[in-house]
Amino acid sequence: MNSLLAKTSVVLTGFTLVLGTVVLSAAEIDPLEVRPTLVQPAVSLPTNLVTVPVVNPGEFFMPPNFDDIPDDKTGDMVRLGRNIFTNTQEYGARYVGNGLNCVSCHLSEGRQPYAGPLWAAVGMFPISRNKNRRVVTYEERIQDCFKYSLDGIAPTVDSPEMIALVTYSKWLATGVPIGVSMPGRGFATIKKTHDPDSIDGEIVYRNKCAMCHGDNGEGQKHADGSYMFPPLWGLDSFNRAAGMNKVKTAATFIKANMPLGSGYTLSDDEALDVAVYMWIHFRPDDPRQSFLMNRFGAKPGGGG
Ligand code: HEC
Ligand code: HEC
Repeated sequence: MNSLLAKTSVVLTGFTLVLGTVVLSAAEIDPLEVRPTLVQPAVSLPTNLVTVPVVNPGEFFMPPNFDDIPDDKTGDMVRLGRNIFTNTQEYGARYVGNGLNCVSCHLSEGRQPYAGPLWAAVGMFPISRNKNRRVVTYEERIQDCFKYSLDGIAPTVDSPEMIALVTYSKWLATGVPIGVSMPGRGFATIKKTHDPDSIDGEIVYRNKCAMCHGDNGEGQKHADGSYMFPPLWGLDSFNRAAGMNKVKTAATFIKANMPLGSGYTLSDDEALDVAVYMWIHFRPDDPRQSFLMNRFGAKPGGGG
């Protein structure tokens, strides 16, 4: 009896030890240091069977290194902008309404070609935009991502957050000619060969996305409550007016960037199917439309 008790307690202590270490190490990780886009996880997909476009040196513009940020007032603004961009939950908290950061979609700190890289964007503004039906400035474009992609409120043009984000973008674009559309801008192009099908999309989702984004699109959280893998729908996701809620925009993003670390492994049809599967789920309303319009009238992606 005694020895049985002793054994049980040894097993139990061992178990607590293991549990203890896991919890400890999770708490010790600085979420900024383990940003998944930077570690490029190896997902076991048969990547050798498909053509993956190789990034040729010189094919895309290379933004400056983080270590080269100048040690002056401008440098401080660049660093603040980078913090807001990569950890909007903390540094831009007063403007964010969901669980995402700018970097959830603009991958690798806004550097990744075909994931809406900032260095390719900033020199193209002011630009005429259908969604706003007039010429918009870079600041106004960023405000739209706050209102719709982050389901929040727009920082004013003279807020420190906005100034920092613009300064960060301009620093990333050091050496990019103004007004020239650079290779890698925005998202990849795909061919629409069939009407996207959410049933096929669900199969793609279960096989290639659910392991990170969760069975119900709810994402996965770090110990501190921030997202390791962001949600794809539900209350913590982008709202119905976001660009990512347009099936085609989502498909072009997914094609080049998802599953994370294995971009270009889905066919164009698979990317469209899984995008429409995302689109049929519940997410926050388009703030520009009434409750009823959101239920019955809204077009995919609202107005854009
Ligand atoms: C849910 C995904 C998502 C999040 C989060 C997000 N964006 Fe975007 N962003 C997009 C998409 C999609 C587009 C392109 C939409 C379109 O024009 O159809 C875009 C476009 C942009 C552009 C213009 C790019 C260009 O080449 O013209 C800028 C600048 C930008 N976002 C900045 C930000 C900033 C700053 C944040 C954080 C405050 C942010 N975004 C958060 C999805 C996102
Ligand atoms: C290996 C894990 C992993 C897999 C598999 C994966 N993703 Fe992601 N996905 C991520 C991470 C991480 C981010 C955010 C990047 C960041 O914050 O740096 C992301 C971002 C996204 C976003 C933009 C942000 C948001 O929440 O809306 C979309 C859309 C998306 N993924 C769709 C997909 C789809 C569709 C698939 C399957 C084809 C997929 N992902 C597979 C890890 C993964």
